[in-house]
Amino acid sequence: MISQAVLGEWYPVAMAALVDAAGRRTLLLGQEIRVFRDAGRIRVTADAGDLAVTERFGHVWACPGTPARALFTIPEADHPGRRLVDCGVVRVKCSPLRAVENFLDIAHFPFVHTDILGAEPHTEVNRYDVKIREEVDEVWATKVHFYQPQAAKSAEGGIVTEYMYRVPAPTASVLYKTCPAMPGEWDVIAIFVQPLTEELCDVWPWMALYDDVTPQAELIAFQQMIFLQDRSILENQIPRLLPLDPGMESPTQADLTSVAYRRWLKRRGLTYGAQMVAA
Ligand SMILES: [Fe+2]
Repeated sequence: MISQAVLGEWYPVAMAALVDAAGRRTLLLGQEIRVFRDAGRIRVTADAGDLAVTERFGHVWACPGTPARALFTIPEADHPGRRLVDCGVVRVKCSPLRAVENFLDIAHFPFVHTDILGAEPHTEVNRYDVKIREEVDEVWATKVHFYQPQAAKSAEGGIVTEYMYRVPAPTASVLYKTCPAMPGEWDVIAIFVQPLTEELCDVWPWMALYDDVTPQAELIAFQQMIFLQDRSILENQIPRLLPLDPGMESPTQADLTSVAYRRWLKRRGLTYGAQMVAA
């Protein structure tokens, strides 16, 4: 039984620009759906009929139940001068919640993205702030600082990058990072995760950058490379579902965001892809 809370969320199901009349057959929460263009309008259908649909951030979003709220906003998507980049899709054999949790984890940078997003001996994660912002009901991690050999395609040489992480929906995360080309602004890199089943997902990375120089294909190739490095880690994680009960995996400083994310999911009953253990 899938809970009402899970059914009331918005999930990405396609890149809007690629949806044509023939459409895309795919899964959402284990159910077959079809995403297609009908007289110019994008529709998402399942056996039971049409799903609620919205188009935002280059993607098509569908809600399998009654939407609990509007799709979250990313104000930076509307800033003039930013480049919005759809980065395609990476299919990963893991829980959709594990994919988000991995995106929130800074400690793996030196080990998984060696010499790109991190490097030894700079493996320490310094203290940062994490909280659930009650007024918007989102998880936020701020004041995250990390040494990076090559933080972005536009970065030359190593720099200490500052990050903020945001979880606005159970299967979406938005990362804000120091923008090498534009001091005082943040580059935005998001992942929108489509839960195909509890143990399989499509990850759609999306970016809103200040970068007029780097060719689109290079930006996409850079993100794809990063996510392929993550994929091998994600597909080998045990347990496969994300444990929501504290104590099942011991938290460290670096995992504070993950702890907050799990607490937030549990509180809201967003347990699709999660492992619950009876007390
Ligand atoms: Fe990673």
